[in-house]
Amino acid sequence: MCSKDSIISTTSKCHKVVVELGLGDGQLLEKVVRDRKSTQTCYVGIEIDAKQIQLARDKLREKNVYLVNESFEKVISCFPDNYVDEFIFVLPPPEYIDKSMESQWSSFYLDIIKKLKENGSLTMVTEIINNLLEPVTDCEFEIWKNWLMSKFTSLGFIIKEAYDDSPRYFSSHYLEQFRGDTSRIKMVTLILLKPHSISS
Ligand SMILES: C[S@@+](CC[C@H](N)C(=O)[O-])C[C@H]1O[C@@H](n2cnc3c(N)ncnc32)[C@H](O)[C@@H]1O
Repeated sequence: MCSKDSIISTTSKCHKVVVELGLGDGQLLEKVVRDRKSTQTCYVGIEIDAKQIQLARDKLREKNVYLVNESFEKVISCFPDNYVDEFIFVLPPPEYIDKSMESQWSSFYLDIIKKLKENGSLTMVTEIINNLLEPVTDCEFEIWKNWLMSKFTSLGFIIKEAYDDSPRYFSSHYLEQFRGDTSRIKMVTLILLKPHSISS
């Protein structure tokens, strides 16, 4: 499904390349594509679940949208270094963000930095849930948010923005669910940049 040549030949004609990781049913990517109205941008959506990607395909029929039913790692390895303008990762699975699995996922984000252009961005929305399913305290939330920011800084990103909650203009299947339970599920949005001079 993801051949290096096909993904590059499709996206190399575009001025900008935007990649959504784990797009699920495509609700968010559909909104991003329609809101931005940029035919010069190529949008790549990566999703491992065949049923979800079919739902996304039913929504997104634009010529500048390329949906791949594969793992993140396989598709990302197809991109040349310094190639992608923007990654969007809304509600990463635990294996890609949980503190307890940090040693497993750190190298994944180093690959993301490599593939980003200088000054390119990773917009990530992620959540904390209290282990006992009780309300998340302000203190718990701040400690977790600070840990996330220091983790991504240590990986080489610059934090452009970090704010509580998810962007209002983002909508997705899981965001809608999580927004309905704001005391037990607290979200943060990080907009992370690849600095100019990092060697890749
Ligand atoms: C928590 S869901 C979020 C879906 C969507 N972003 C949303 O907000 O509704 C995570 C998504 O990542 C996909 N996923 C998990 N591991 C993946 C992998 N290694 N490669 C590609 N997709 C993956 C899952 O199938 C799932 O659709």
